[in-house]
Amino acid sequence: MKNLLSITDFSVAEIDELLEVASDISVNGEKYAEKCKNKILATLFFEPSTRTRLSFESAMLSLGGKTLGFSDANSSSSSKGESVSDTIRVVSCYSDIIAMRHPKEGAPLVASMSSTVPIINAGDGGHNHPTQTLTDLLTIKTEKGKLDDFVIGFCGDLKFGRTVHSLIDALAMRKGIKVVLISPEELKVPDYVKTDVMDKHGMEYEETTDLEKALPKLDVLYMTRVQQERFFSEDEYLRLRDSYILTLDKLQNAKKDMSILHPLPRVNEISVDVDKDPRACYFKQVQNGKYVRMALIMKLLGVK
Ligand code: NCD
Repeated sequence: MKNLLSITDFSVAEIDELLEVASDISVNGEKYAEKCKNKILATLFFEPSTRTRLSFESAMLSLGGKTLGFSDANSSSSSKGESVSDTIRVVSCYSDIIAMRHPKEGAPLVASMSSTVPIINAGDGGHNHPTQTLTDLLTIKTEKGKLDDFVIGFCGDLKFGRTVHSLIDALAMRKGIKVVLISPEELKVPDYVKTDVMDKHGMEYEETTDLEKALPKLDVLYMTRVQQERFFSEDEYLRLRDSYILTLDKLQNAKKDMSILHPLPRVNEISVDVDKDPRACYFKQVQNGKYVRMALIMKLLGVK
């Protein structure tokens, strides 16, 4: 039985195949309308979410399946002190596949050890978010026509931003990708991402605090929100929250065909004026998120 805990659970070939299916779903959705008839997806969200949970539910409903779950840990038995392992053993009896989000890093791995059905990590603390990565990869592939040989800038909270960690994991498996890491000193990418991922794969990268200087060389700009919920101090969050704000003015020095991605939710880091710029791809990303999750659910359930 296969799970998706980290994007590295899949090979490049498996990811490419998933993206192919997702692209086909985007044009031939009807063909897939009954693929998961009589199957049940459980969405267990121990941490808030709008997009990810609803996109999983929308994905399963569009495959003809059903969904159940909770969107607030306080309304589940974990508020009575139940362990993740016990909750998963129980929910495995009610469902065919589980998508879970949890504030603790590694919780989906723990879940996978007591589950009898596939587990999808829908975000674990500041660690990983592999289904957002599938979404990001499909968006880059659609916009750039390729997943090799480009320069990508990651900007914002690279320390706690789990979508950043997972996307770097995925891009490290490809060729010719150069990474520019743009963040305040306090929110730099964790050392393990440098040593165990980028260095290990010989990936070229540089670190800077200066977004404007970095902009002209980027083919893709991946903006992120400062992750308020992972800070120990409110003052520290307030000090760092507006470190970067992308505006139309700053974009004048960027490439005309640069793609701007953001996993959303956006707070202040992209001015709403940028939404009408043709380089803005973040709402297209949302749509792609549904297609990749449809493809993923089918793959993990072994549906052809
Ligand atoms: C991201 C997350 O949950 O990590 N959101 C999402 O799933 N699209 C990014 C974020 O919360 O900033």
